[in-house]
Amino acid sequence: MKTYSTAASLRAALNAGKRAGKTVAFVPTMGNLHEGHLRLVQRARQHADIVVVSIFVNPLQFGANEDLSSYPRTLAADKEKLFAAGAQCLFLPQVNEIYPEGMDSHSKIAVPELSDEHCGASRPGHFTGVATVVAKLFNIVQPDTAVFGEKDFQQLSVIRKMVRDLCMPINIIGVATARAEDGLALSSRNGYLNAEQRRIAPILHQVLQETREAIACGYDSYSKLEQHAKISLIKAGLESDYFAICDARTLRSVTPDTEEVVILAAAKLGSTRLIDNVTLNVNPSADWGMLAAN
Ligand code: PAF
Repeated sequence: MKTYSTAASLRAALNAGKRAGKTVAFVPTMGNLHEGHLRLVQRARQHADIVVVSIFVNPLQFGANEDLSSYPRTLAADKEKLFAAGAQCLFLPQVNEIYPEGMDSHSKIAVPELSDEHCGASRPGHFTGVATVVAKLFNIVQPDTAVFGEKDFQQLSVIRKMVRDLCMPINIIGVATARAEDGLALSSRNGYLNAEQRRIAPILHQVLQETREAIACGYDSYSKLEQHAKISLIKAGLESDYFAICDARTLRSVTPDTEEVVILAAAKLGSTRLIDNVTLNVNPSADWGMLAAN
């Protein structure tokens, strides 16, 4: 695996590969890699000849009171993991290459509507920061395919929309959330949890699953389900930020046209913010088929 710290050096290496007819898959990360990231690399390997991983803790997507300075940086361990997972290129840009004149005057990419609610409401400007850096990294790497985790469901939706709206010729792939045995979604931020918080954390996924089962059984009073879920989280010691049953395409309320539901949740344990989601097909055509058959 070769490491590149400038866009020009990475581009030169990739151009040589592309001229030789090789395809490129890209996995953008902020480092502190865990099994979830490595699954993205494995999936990327199935789609292209060359896999590029970037590690860049993007200051533009952190709010003023967030964990930018304490965000875990574990480069040596990350390099070993990426090498073992079969990534060929590691891109480690510096902040002054990504934002040469600072962040305020830098051009930004806003993806309205999809960015507004849920994490976007709790973290104003977050998705503009994500979309801007991902677009910039896409322009540097110019991949055929890019791979993201489904744990950050809203982020994945925002990136898919940006790619569609801006006609970026990139195939976006989402990979299922990697979980610990007790169901907790793997996240770089799980390392902030103390032993007691770590014991409580999987309850977020349990409550999501219970809600999913209730919907699958036909319970359709979604606001009551959301309310019940929030109370369950609070009782367990989690501070609920949002718990929302949505249309997986729009991330807005479920409508009669909804085919897939996503249940999005964020909650805090101490100062650690956890997010997770589950999805469920509600395919209305199947119901019509059943009604017609009866
Ligand atoms: O999901 C992440 O790790 C980040 O939001 C991303 C996509 C690498 C952009 O900084």
